[in-house]
Amino acid sequence: MAAADTSPGPTRAAVILPWERPAHHDDQRAAEARLDEAVGLAAAIGLDIVHSAILPLRTRRPSTLLGSGQIATLHDTIEADHVTVAIIDARLSPVQQRNLERALDCKVIDRTGLILDIFGERAATREGTLQVELAHLEYQRSRLVRSWTHLERQRGGFGFLGGPGETQIEADRRMIGERIVRLRRDLEQVRRTRGLHREARRRVPFPVVALVGYTNAGKSTLFNALTGATVHAQDQLFATLDPTMRGLRLPSGRRVILSDTVGFISELPTELVAAFRATLEEVAEADLIVHVRDAAHPETAAQRQDVHAVLEGLLDTDWQPHSIEVLNKADLLGGIANVPARDDAVVISALTGEGLNSLTQDIDRRLLAAMAEAAYAIPVEDGAALAWLYAHGEITARDDTETAIRLTVRMLPADQARFEQRHGQPDI
Ligand code: GTP
Repeated sequence: MAAADTSPGPTRAAVILPWERPAHHDDQRAAEARLDEAVGLAAAIGLDIVHSAILPLRTRRPSTLLGSGQIATLHDTIEADHVTVAIIDARLSPVQQRNLERALDCKVIDRTGLILDIFGERAATREGTLQVELAHLEYQRSRLVRSWTHLERQRGGFGFLGGPGETQIEADRRMIGERIVRLRRDLEQVRRTRGLHREARRRVPFPVVALVGYTNAGKSTLFNALTGATVHAQDQLFATLDPTMRGLRLPSGRRVILSDTVGFISELPTELVAAFRATLEEVAEADLIVHVRDAAHPETAAQRQDVHAVLEGLLDTDWQPHSIEVLNKADLLGGIANVPARDDAVVISALTGEGLNSLTQDIDRRLLAAMAEAAYAIPVEDGAALAWLYAHGEITARDDTETAIRLTVRMLPADQARFEQRHGQPDI
């Protein structure tokens, strides 16, 4: 099994892509893009990637997937580079995983395991966390080889398998079975009370703008570029939100909350689809969706379609008007002027900052366009309702009488609904 990891610092890992198709030119490019993606995902969970390679597969060996020569070479590399985790970017059967761990003398994680780990780190809602843990346990139950305990201990992950001293697979299996039953019950409960989460989000007094997009499209880079300069100490409110949300002040002065989400991943294993959707639940609550694309990626058109397909399953049919498409990495294509784009798309480079002003202006414009006017008569003693309207909308007219204050307010439809749910219908 895995060599003891006594060295301090990040875990040293190798990323291997078994590649089945013949390596003619285009295919080589596709394989390299896929390997880059896997390396990026592995780096995202804190592994130090010291070796990566594409291994052509002539046949799929049932016992180990890879050929014996390949395994021997890989074993030497793993030993020489002091690798303790090998990520095999393929679906491995439990037997293949176990055999590879023995043959390579290190921990082996397959694609499903890798993605599960990423979802686990990024799930922001209670439902997302439970759903990911459930998928994780079901995966684990099928391959009780204790391959996860090492990483989990190190990073404080789920830790559901107990301490290192416990080795009885039967006990583990029973525990996992019980935990799965409990998780399913918890999930039911969370779904029934999902409204409470929405309620909490409603109390956040600013519109939410969600970044979505393929893994590696540059969402986090954009998130940091947009919010880095504008996060002030007074943004205490945001300290109470999870770290994937931050406040942002738009050119108009309007404040919004920018929310970063887990990236889309190609060939998502089907058993992970539910977990992925649950991590995206917050997107359905957003006032505006910003779809970040890697315009320089060879598969950028296919990635766009994949993202649209998932969003369509998640959101109302009319989600597109509430979204902005952003073509990122323009610097790799010779600058923003060189990138052909539809009229309604914004071209940027999150890395160099080019185009970011147009993007924030566009976000402003879209939020403004989405606003509608309504008139309310607020009883003079209802200071809270008055304050809420001032915080959420733009007051375009105000008329004070003895008993009531009549306001005309431009607000986002979502805010209007929030207000009317609590304070009643508009004044006519
Ligand atoms: P996930 O967290 O996996 O969903 O990825 P992400 O969409 O958050 O991408 P991230 O911001 O981590 O960026 C991925 C890689 O692309 C990093 O190496 C970035 O430095 C790089 N990158 C992001 N934006 C740009 C850009 O505008 N130009 C260039 N050249 N590279 C960029």
